[in-house]
Amino acid sequence: MAHLIEAKGLTRIYTRGAEKIAALNDVSFNVPEGSIVSVIGQSGSGKTTLVNVLGCLDNPTSGELKIDGAGIFQAGLELSETKLTVIRRKFFGYVFQKFFLIPTLTVKENILLPGVFQSSLKANEKNLDGIMDMLGIAKRKDHLPAQLSGGEMQRVAIARALINNPKILIADEPTGNLDSKRSGEIKDLIVHLNKTKGITIILVTHNPDFAKIGDITIELSDGCIKQAA
Ligand SMILES: Nc1ncnc2c1ncn2[C@@H]1O[C@H](COP(=O)(O)OP(=O)(O)OP(=O)(O)O)[C@@H](O)[C@H]1O
Ligand SMILES: [Mg+2]
Repeated sequence: MAHLIEAKGLTRIYTRGAEKIAALNDVSFNVPEGSIVSVIGQSGSGKTTLVNVLGCLDNPTSGELKIDGAGIFQAGLELSETKLTVIRRKFFGYVFQKFFLIPTLTVKENILLPGVFQSSLKANEKNLDGIMDMLGIAKRKDHLPAQLSGGEMQRVAIARALINNPKILIADEPTGNLDSKRSGEIKDLIVHLNKTKGITIILVTHNPDFAKIGDITIELSDGCIKQAA
């Protein structure tokens, strides 16, 4: 199987005054197309830093990243912000721990938002009903985020991440704020997206039961891979 993501020696050092923190330290692994990767580890171990670099949202201090065989980050290569934006739109959907829904837009408008920036609004409107049905939020389409439960907000955030048909879904603790029933629903949904649509999933989770859906598990400790199974 082809490797959709290749990470080699990824290192991300944050500087805070005189202090340097290696949030990510020489991390290497490959992600086969169509797989689920679970990223686990204690708070502060570098999980968000890793998925932000993999998702081309943050530059590593050193190391290499290839997406679909093409170099994104490597020594001597500096892609422009415009090119990175194209890569993000082409490959990725993102679900962030804090949802980041726009409070003044309805559910439907929030989901369609990514298309507004890339003139694919018409195409996305065609996807909208199917995605809202799949996520069980069709009845909430004209609600504002403040009128939703936490689980519904999370599902709107997932719908927004899916609206552009991404090849890769990056989900940073998508059940962090949910009870076990809602968490179970999101887990089933993520497995469903992987199995039926072939979406490659990078999943950060604290929940060991949820992490078991991974074909590959990356455990981080102080920015390093502890074990890869
Ligand atoms: N912008 C930043 N500036 C300086 N240090 C940072 C920054 N962002 C993260 N860090 C540090 O990098 C380390 C890794 O942070 P990261 O957010 O990747 O951890 P995490 O594994 O996602 O934790 P959590 O489970 O709490 O979300 C931590 O020590 C954190 O304090
Ligand atoms: Mg985090």
